[in-house]
Amino acid sequence: MNILVVYDSKTGNTEKMAKAVAKGAQETGAKIVLKRAENVKNQDFEDADGILMGSPTYFGQMSAKLKHIIDDSIGVHTRLTGKVGGAFTSSGGTATGPAGMRRTW
Ligand SMILES: Cc1cc2nc3c(=O)[nH]c(=O)nc-3n(C[C@H](O)[C@H](O)[C@H](O)COP(=O)(O)O)c2cc1C
Repeated sequence: MNILVVYDSKTGNTEKMAKAVAKGAQETGAKIVLKRAENVKNQDFEDADGILMGSPTYFGQMSAKLKHIIDDSIGVHTRLTGKVGGAFTSSGGTATGPAGMRRTW
């Protein structure tokens, strides 16, 4: 079982989560590939049986770097059918997005 853990992180919070996620997945006996978003190639998605993606919350959404690799995966997305996926995020507050910014920032 091959698991790809891909993440974006500027100040390290999501990176810490990605490493914890990778460690947990490794404990199941899976082979782990841990990569920052900018280092991921479509081949990495194809090679994985499971794909876990982590992003900081930016204005209530995923970061542009993570969205970019998802958009770039259009060339292989028909070959990703049947794979298992998961996602995680770190944020600065309990409220997110433009409405929450008034309270959290
Ligand atoms: C451009 C930008 C937008 C953000 N937007 C939100 C937001 O909408 N809600 C929130 O709770 N935190 C927001 N944050 C805080 C980050 O989500 C939080 O600090 C996160 O843990 C950063 O992850 P990182 O350390 O992996 O970069 C924002 C931070 C930045 C830089």
